[in-house]
Amino acid sequence: MEHIIQAPQTPFDPAGETAEDETVTATRRAASVTESSRANRGWWNGNADEYQAEHGTFLGDDRFVWGPEGLDEVEAQLLGPAEELAGKDVLEIGAGAAQCSRWLAAQGARPVALDLAHRQLQHALRIAEEHSARFPLVEADASALPFAGSSFDLVCSAYGALPFVADPVRVLREVRRVLRPGGRFVFSVTHPMRWAFPDEPGPEGLSVSGSYFDRTPYVEEDEEGEAVYVEHHRTVGDRVRDVVRAGLRLVDLVEPEWPEWNTQEWGGWSPLRGHLIPGTAIFVCEKDA
Ligand SMILES: C[S@@+](CC[C@H](N)C(=O)[O-])C[C@H]1O[C@@H](n2cnc3c(N)ncnc32)[C@H](O)[C@@H]1O
Repeated sequence: MEHIIQAPQTPFDPAGETAEDETVTATRRAASVTESSRANRGWWNGNADEYQAEHGTFLGDDRFVWGPEGLDEVEAQLLGPAEELAGKDVLEIGAGAAQCSRWLAAQGARPVALDLAHRQLQHALRIAEEHSARFPLVEADASALPFAGSSFDLVCSAYGALPFVADPVRVLREVRRVLRPGGRFVFSVTHPMRWAFPDEPGPEGLSVSGSYFDRTPYVEEDEEGEAVYVEHHRTVGDRVRDVVRAGLRLVDLVEPEWPEWNTQEWGGWSPLRGHLIPGTAIFVCEKDA
């Protein structure tokens, strides 16, 4: 029987998580490390079922998709040639239902899928029942990775953790610590340019509505003013500096173009906007050998 390994933290209590019918207000305001982690843990626990129902088909049970454009690791090979993944120890942070880890396992790699939200990992367990791949599922915050130093050859994250944390350098330092010398970390996030535009898939999402340089987090609050969802904005320069401050080397910054075959919208990501402005930024980083 597979189970989820929990790092010491507040136990999962479904009754205490964000209810779907709560009234929330979107605003821009400061949000600390602790507040962001607590809010996002609650949001992803409360919304995992809906998220997987809406996006599960696009993500596939065992595909490695880097973002709404549909760039697949099969073609991108940002973690290296697929035939060289066999036998590699790989950590996926913010893994959700661990679709990417399942693809890695199919290549012969030894993945570990880590996520903050218990309910997301329960979806990983649900999907695992229909697949032969078995690998550890770890419930923990990416800001405090529960692994010894130099445990992994590769770390990856497709929109997991980094868009949501108040202190990305802390996460990047943790990633550097658990990587072996010469190891690689590849992570995708919302392209920073998107923050200057409304998060709308239609023409209203094509006009600048705010400053690209405004780093104030996007926060959804409940009626008591408690944050229930937080996203943190970093400019391109901020992200590059974060990587460097964490002691990693940036070797590529990939901005996937919207392909003709993809006619599907994902929130504010759409073919209309995707053909004009970038939606995803993928940072390829290495730890010196
Ligand atoms: C957009 S999903 C990405 C997962 C998967 N790649 C996908 O596309 O569905 C974001 C995931 O990051 C997780 N997450 C958010 N903050 C985190 C943190 N601080 N540490 C670990 N995981 C986190 C969420 O629980 C969620 O499962």
